[in-house]
Amino acid sequence: MDTHSLFSLEGRVALVTGGSRGIGRMIAEGFIAQGARVYISSRKADACAETAAALGASCIALPMDISTVEGCRLLASQFGEQEPALDILVNNAGFAWGQPFDTFPEKGWDRVMDLNVKSPFFLTQALHGALRNAAKPDRPAKVINIGSIDGLQLNLWETYSYHASKAAIHHLTRRLAALMIRDGINVTAIAPGAFASEMNRAARDHGDIVAKAVPAGRIGRAEDMAAAAIYLASRGGDYVVGEVLCVDGGVVNAALNIRIDG
Ligand SMILES: NC(=O)c1ccc[n+]([C@@H]2O[C@H](COP(=O)([O-])OP(=O)(O)OC[C@H]3O[C@@H](n4cnc5c(N)ncnc54)[C@H](OP(=O)(O)O)[C@@H]3O)[C@@H](O)[C@H]2O)c1
Repeated sequence: MDTHSLFSLEGRVALVTGGSRGIGRMIAEGFIAQGARVYISSRKADACAETAAALGASCIALPMDISTVEGCRLLASQFGEQEPALDILVNNAGFAWGQPFDTFPEKGWDRVMDLNVKSPFFLTQALHGALRNAAKPDRPAKVINIGSIDGLQLNLWETYSYHASKAAIHHLTRRLAALMIRDGINVTAIAPGAFASEMNRAARDHGDIVAKAVPAGRIGRAEDMAAAAIYLASRGGDYVVGEVLCVDGGVVNAALNIRIDG
């Protein structure tokens, strides 16, 4: 048994949306360390270029606003000008909106649903050909959707559209998996718990307090997220299909007797 190459991504090409910072950057960095060439995308071209420069020659910036179907198709076509095939697509770019129920605005619904649910669907659709080009009988291509533990259980915040969007992306993962497995493309999802980022400023700025609600006693590290994504993307994850992998230090599955009041 060759376990040494199980988690290698040598020679693979990946596209990580929202790869300029936070969880997307953690995943991009992990993929590059395992040998992949990684395209990162986000709206701000400067931030994308800065991250690509920091991650080295195997990281290429491809900035794009993917909140519209047009943006998704444009990103796919720009990617297609660079590469004939796509081994790994990570649908990571996401957005959250919190506001009390009575004043929760349509904008806070649409922006979240558009980026968190619609974009992964239409970007995957636009890149289906490139994913098919990469898929080989003994080496499936991969689509990894970034969901959330908020799609599996409730949190305290009034993030109505975010909760719904993350439950939706988990179920969409299974539906797409059922279709794409026929083409040798495995679709899975990761449901992160608390990771320090611009979106999760509580974890970033008050990690010690957030950690009190995590059975493992800490927030997630970049390596935790990279490891899960590498597993699903590599040969090690080739027999995992339609799965939603919780990476949360036990919040969803092991949260007995945890006090959050300090
Ligand atoms: N951090 C956590 O604790 C946590 C927990 C559970 C799930 N998640 C999920 O993980 C994913 C990443 O979150 P994060 O915490 O890393 O958030 P983040 O730090 O806010 O990063 C979001 C990324 O998405 C990009 N982005 C935002 N809007 C975009 C658009 N319209 N088009 C293209 N790119 C766009 C951002 O760059 P630009 O602003 O330049 O566009 C950035 O690169 C999200 O799906 C989130 O729901 C995070």
